Amino acid sequence: MNVLVTGGAGYIGSHTVDRLLAHGDRVSVVDNLWTGHRQAVPDQAKFYEADVRDKTALKKIFDENDFDAVVHFAALTQVGESMKKPLFYFDNNTFGVISLLEAMRDHNVKKIVFSSSAATYGVPKHNPITEDEIQKPINPYGLTKLQMEQIMAWSDQAYGIKGVALRYFNVAGAKADGSIGEDHNPETHMIPNILMVAQGKKDKMVIFGDDYNTPDGTNVRDYVHVVDLADAHVLALEYLQRENKSNRFNLGTEMGMSNKQLISAAKKVTGIDFKVEIGPRRAGDPDALVASPKKAKEVLGWDPKLSNVEDEIKSAWNWMTKHPNGYDDKEQ
Ligand code: UFG
Repeated sequence: MNVLVTGGAGYIGSHTVDRLLAHGDRVSVVDNLWTGHRQAVPDQAKFYEADVRDKTALKKIFDENDFDAVVHFAALTQVGESMKKPLFYFDNNTFGVISLLEAMRDHNVKKIVFSSSAATYGVPKHNPITEDEIQKPINPYGLTKLQMEQIMAWSDQAYGIKGVALRYFNVAGAKADGSIGEDHNPETHMIPNILMVAQGKKDKMVIFGDDYNTPDGTNVRDYVHVVDLADAHVLALEYLQRENKSNRFNLGTEMGMSNKQLISAAKKVTGIDFKVEIGPRRAGDPDALVASPKKAKEVLGWDPKLSNVEDEIKSAWNWMTKHPNGYDDKEQ
């Protein structure tokens, strides 16, 4: 397929570009490089530096290419930031998908796979979470993702654009050879932060709260390996080709890990002991988010072989050890 990947220079986007190319697809990337890295996009992919909200730029890119499908990552992703800057999130994420769907409608591109989130469920009534759990986000980020799903559903009804929403749980790890990985500035995510402390770049790891309603009091999350997650996008495109039907899938492991458990795992993998403190809660964090991946396994044939915290931490550690300054190391 000829695939446009928006946000393909970002963490999950770049791993998906890698898997699409390995699968034999042709890939073009559009990314505004706010958080993405040009070096994360391989030469085999075409690269356009543009914002998906820029309709003129998008029209030119669609005019120049004959895309079969779009994989849409380009969005802001931080729960905490969204609590402070909700309008920034609605502008980028919600307006971004509208602009993209307009370009798809105008150029007769009828397939899209896009990043949704466990954050659309808010505080779930049940764990593990299945796809029919009520979606009631508790932060603006989660709401933008729910809006994106709803806008896609109406775009299917009106324009026949078929969409697969992939609801990610927590994503971690890096490609096995350490050539691409996670590089955010500032880094807010749990696993890279723990590893930065292990590297000595930060003096201590702060756990945000230990008075949650979970077995050890710290938040429980479900960590998926980024390469497994990337493969789910390839499978979702195949699903759209095969079934020509909109759908949505949870991508997680059904294995919940608490923040305290993650820290123990990281100490074991790295062999480094480091200082850990309990700090105040971070706004917008639900107690526990654990996915049932049953549907993705059955319908997409997803087989997340790498998704265990040890492989995730090991591969993230390998990337961070090879690139102590992230992609900046490649620029020198
Ligand atoms: N945490 C800490 N200390 C840190 C960083 C994180 O204790 O320095 C905790 C958080 O409070 C949370 C857990 O680690 O309990 C995971 O936090 P992350 O920031 O790594 O991830 P989130 O669960 O907040 O969010 C991630 C993605 C979202 C997605 C969500 C779905 O960033 O886009 O997973 O579960 F919606």
